[in-house]
Amino acid sequence: MMPVILARNVDKQYRLAKQDIHAVRGVSLSVATGEYLAVVGPSGSGKSTLLTLLGGLDQPSAGSIALLGQELGGLSDRALTRLRLERVGFVFQRFHLLPVLTASENIELPMAERRVPRAERRVRTRELLDYVAMSHRADHRATQLSGGEMQRVAIARALANQPAILLADEPTGELDAATGREILALFRRLHGDGLTLVVVTHDDRLAADAQRVIHMLDGRIAG
Ligand SMILES: Nc1ncnc2c1ncn2[C@@H]1O[C@H](COP(=O)(O)OP(=O)(O)OP(=O)(O)O)[C@@H](O)[C@H]1O
Ligand SMILES: [Mg+2]
Repeated sequence: MMPVILARNVDKQYRLAKQDIHAVRGVSLSVATGEYLAVVGPSGSGKSTLLTLLGGLDQPSAGSIALLGQELGGLSDRALTRLRLERVGFVFQRFHLLPVLTASENIELPMAERRVPRAERRVRTRELLDYVAMSHRADHRATQLSGGEMQRVAIARALANQPAILLADEPTGELDAATGREILALFRRLHGDGLTLVVVTHDDRLAADAQRVIHMLDGRIAG
């Protein structure tokens, strides 16, 4: 079967005024459909940079990345934006919800961008709120939620357009141990339901849950 992600010899160099930073060096990686992959490694080893490249949020300096067989390098900005919106869900350490919007409105946003009809959006939002056990907080603004609740809403938002893959960067990094476990359980359930997950983490329990762990060191996959 075609991998969800196929990265070949990916390099990323950031050019700054005084020095070049070689954040990712020659990474090749294939992520299979339904796989649960954890990416671990010390601070500065290039984990977030790699995740950003895999999700098409930034372009590699060299090498190529294909998402569901589509070469990201060959896409126009518009096509890439659309591919991200429809096929990739992102979850971040600091949630990145829009503070003035409610939980429901945050979840609806990616569907509105895709011009999903309002009635269908509402139904899907209710399902997602239920899936992440947040129905009771549907009308709370993001600022009126706890950290764990915000992350559950952020995960629901990432799932709104039924992505082929969920990319998460330290999703439990801001949460206490008990709340982090709830997020782990949610990822486990998503994996069980067939979603493909790539999760960057410093959390040993999260890494232990994944099917495969890759270690990054100095921009390379170390094993
Ligand atoms: N936008 C940027 N411009 C310049 N350098 C950057 C940029 N983003 C990251 N870097 C550098 O690239 C290297 C890899 O950073 P990255 O954020 O990928 O590390 P990380 O493994 O995610 O670290 P952490 O565990 O602390 O989040 C670091 O040396 C960092 O300083
Ligand atoms: Mg990082």
